[in-house]
Amino acid sequence: MKLLSSIALTSILTATIATAQTTMCFKENHNSMTTIETTALSGGECQNQKSVQDMKKEGWSVADINIDKTKNGANYIYIFKKEELKLSSIDEKALEEKILNRLEERKKQEIATKKKEAYIRKSKSGEKLYNNKCISCHGKNGELKARGVSRPINSLNLQDFTLSIRGYNNGDYDRGMAFVMKPYATLMNDKDIKNVYVYLRSLKEKTTEENK
Ligand code: HEC
Repeated sequence: MKLLSSIALTSILTATIATAQTTMCFKENHNSMTTIETTALSGGECQNQKSVQDMKKEGWSVADINIDKTKNGANYIYIFKKEELKLSSIDEKALEEKILNRLEERKKQEIATKKKEAYIRKSKSGEKLYNNKCISCHGKNGELKARGVSRPINSLNLQDFTLSIRGYNNGDYDRGMAFVMKPYATLMNDKDIKNVYVYLRSLKEKTTEENK
């Protein structure tokens, strides 16, 4: 990916350099050195209309001059050069956009990866806690009604899950067997609650994935 983008970058830059233009204009039998720069030239981009000065104004520079003396004065041949400014500025814009898009894309990917890593971390520590302390009453996937009274805890949303456990801690939630659950509720801080919740949800996601 990195290699590819640097290759793309170089090829755009070389393309820009390669678009430097040249054109050849001339004036036959011109008899004054002092007026040649303001005299319209023939051929190339000059088209009998543009003088050396006009060409310079348009961004051309003189790359070479050839002067041949004739009977009536001299034949002047000019080679003009111009970097293709228009093209290069478009490319720079496109390049900039490309780079910005790529940075944006990378940032999104990084955030997504971080989220995923955090999710896996939470799920892993939730799994540990769940398998050590909860599985015996709530079942492998949190699908059982513990002691016949709890709801299957894999069906609770995060809010209900959290409220129930806090309720056991405060003594204000009881479906009839709260005294069984309370010691386990007191084990859990907010992070543990979230982690177990994430773990149970990851199991659900796995089974829906497998059933697809
Ligand atoms: C010894 C059995 C047992 C263990 C171990 C146990 N629980 Fe429970 N759990 C229960 C019972 C019984 C209830 C229902 C209590 C009641 O009557 O309100 C319950 C209720 C819950 C509820 C609320 C369900 C609802 O319907 O609102 C949650 C959430 C919960 N347990 C999570 C856990 C977690 C997480 C662990 C592990 C840290 C755990 N339990 C360990 C027996 C257990």
